[in-house]
Amino acid sequence: MAHTALADVIERGLSSVPKSLPPRVLYDERGSRLFEQITTLPEYYPTEAERALLTSSAAQIADATGMRTLVELGAGVLDKSRILIDAGLAGGTLDHYVPVDISVEVLEQSARELQLRYPSLSIGPREADFMEELAIGDLTSPVVLSFLGGTIGNLFPIERIDFLRRMGHAAGPGNYLLVGTDLVKDIDRIIDAYFDSQGITEAFLLNVVQVINDECGASLCTEDFDYVPLWDAREARMDLRLRARRDLDIDLPGSRSRCRIAAQEEIRIEVSSKFTLEQVRTELQVAGSTVLDQYSDGDFALTLAVVDS
Ligand code: TRP
Repeated sequence: MAHTALADVIERGLSSVPKSLPPRVLYDERGSRLFEQITTLPEYYPTEAERALLTSSAAQIADATGMRTLVELGAGVLDKSRILIDAGLAGGTLDHYVPVDISVEVLEQSARELQLRYPSLSIGPREADFMEELAIGDLTSPVVLSFLGGTIGNLFPIERIDFLRRMGHAAGPGNYLLVGTDLVKDIDRIIDAYFDSQGITEAFLLNVVQVINDECGASLCTEDFDYVPLWDAREARMDLRLRARRDLDIDLPGSRSRCRIAAQEEIRIEVSSKFTLEQVRTELQVAGSTVLDQYSDGDFALTLAVVDS
């Protein structure tokens, strides 16, 4: 079996102490479909909240920035992209749209659909793991570089500053960053968003077990794991884990090695941080950008910042 880069990462993650895997393992084909379903769940408020904020602020954003280029990191949900594109076109400034995603399929499909709808827009998709390397190339200013969905909250604090700084470099001084962040709120609502009553989020996390099998040639059973969504109050973040129900010996034929998971041992898959408005402003400032505007309904926030020179 071919040993992929992802297999390497998984095997390292399973051998480390404590065990953790990168969020990428969530988004194989089935995982991506399950995530799409999550975004339509009544408990998962961030998607709708962000969409509503984009709808009510897009004209202002287009007007304040005069954007000629819109770059979208993680170009997943098309109807969100359209809100900003429509505003940029209505303002008469937008001519380039650059979706950046790790998945070629996602990119090709979104580029195709958008080109049909916007024949005059120049669409230049970039395939990139932007968490690794944020090289987008030359862009026509003014640029708005957007990072939506609250995904910035999936990074740890130091990584966030580093990532925001790299976003600033990629956009360039005087250009703009648009960042979506989930906000601190009633804990029960946050936990429900990651533990829905239909079990879709649970299936989304347990799908990781299947990804380990597919990538590494292991033969684990989803029944041997529980999904554990923990609220970490000190760090203000959800900590999403899998916990082994019994001792497991994982055979990894790809690397001809074995790895043990003890009963009750946990594998961290992702954290999802929740912010205050002020904290978002501070982090952007530390990373070399100045906030111009924040749009929020109290649950979620969109923050528009200009990159310092
Ligand atoms: N980026 C999303 C978030 O943090 C992804 C997500 C939604 C997620 N539900 C999840 C990640 C459950 C892991 C588990 O909100």
